[in-house]
Amino acid sequence: MNYYEYFLKCRENFEQEDKPSLEEFYKNPVVKIPIGQFGEPYTDLINDISSAVKDDFDSYVEDDIMLKHKGFWKYEGELKKISNFLVPYLENNRFGCHLHVDKIYIYRTLKLENRESSYLWHYDNNPAEIVKNIIYLNDVTEENSPFEYMGDVDKKGLIVEPSRRGPGHWRPPPNNSRLTTQQIDSLIKSGYSGIKVVGKKGLTYSFCNDTIHRANPIMSGYRDVLNIRVKPTLEKAPEYINKKWTTGFETSGEAEMNPEIAWRVE
Ligand SMILES: [Fe+2]
Repeated sequence: MNYYEYFLKCRENFEQEDKPSLEEFYKNPVVKIPIGQFGEPYTDLINDISSAVKDDFDSYVEDDIMLKHKGFWKYEGELKKISNFLVPYLENNRFGCHLHVDKIYIYRTLKLENRESSYLWHYDNNPAEIVKNIIYLNDVTEENSPFEYMGDVDKKGLIVEPSRRGPGHWRPPPNNSRLTTQQIDSLIKSGYSGIKVVGKKGLTYSFCNDTIHRANPIMSGYRDVLNIRVKPTLEKAPEYINKKWTTGFETSGEAEMNPEIAWRVE
C-alpha cells in the first residue's frame, strides 16, 4: 500500500461528518493556521518555549549557518500541549484522519554568505501526505530568513510529485530534490513567484513537504523555528508526541517507506 492509499484508508477510519476535501489538501498545500482560534493559552505556550529556546541557542558556542537544538525532550510538556492545539486542527480541517507527530525540529537560522542546502529551492521528497508545520519563535521579517514557497497568483503553493510514495515506488529524487535555475525561471515565466512568509512570533504555517520551498539569508538578527511534522495514522495514537514514535535531528528525515509502520506502544 502506498501513502496515498493508506491516507484514504485513514480517512475512512476517522469519523467525521464533513471531511475536508482531498482536492484542497493536495492543491492548496501551504496554509496559515488560524492560531487566534487557539486563544491565549497557545500564545502563552509559544512565549514560554520561545524564551527558553532563545536562552538555549544563545549559549551554543557553534557558529554555523543553522544551529540544531540538541534536546527538545526537555520541552516535552510544552510540545505536547502545543500539539494538542495544532494537531486536532489539522486532523479536522486538513486531513480528515488521525495523525501523529513523527518529527520535531527546533533550529536557529544564523548568518549566511552563500545559498546552500535548504537555502536553495527544493522539496523534501517524502510522500506528499507528510506535512510540516513551522512555528516562528521570534518575529520574522524580510531581514531574518523568512520561509519562502513557490506559489501561483492566488498564493497557492506548488508541489512536486515526490519520487518516494511507498513500497514499490521509493527512489532517490532527481538532482537531490533541488530545482535548477532553469526550472525556477520557467515557473516564474508561467506566473509563479516566491512568496515569503513573514510575521510575528507564533505565526504557524502548515505545508506539504513537497511544496517547492527554501529559507532565505539572514541580513540581520536570527530566526528560531519549531517544526512539527505529522503523518496520517489509521488508529488514534494514545498521544500525538511520544518518544516511541517522535524523533528529531538525531535520525534521518526520510519517512518510513511503509506508511503502515506508524506508532506502536510496545
Ligand atoms: Fe525543506
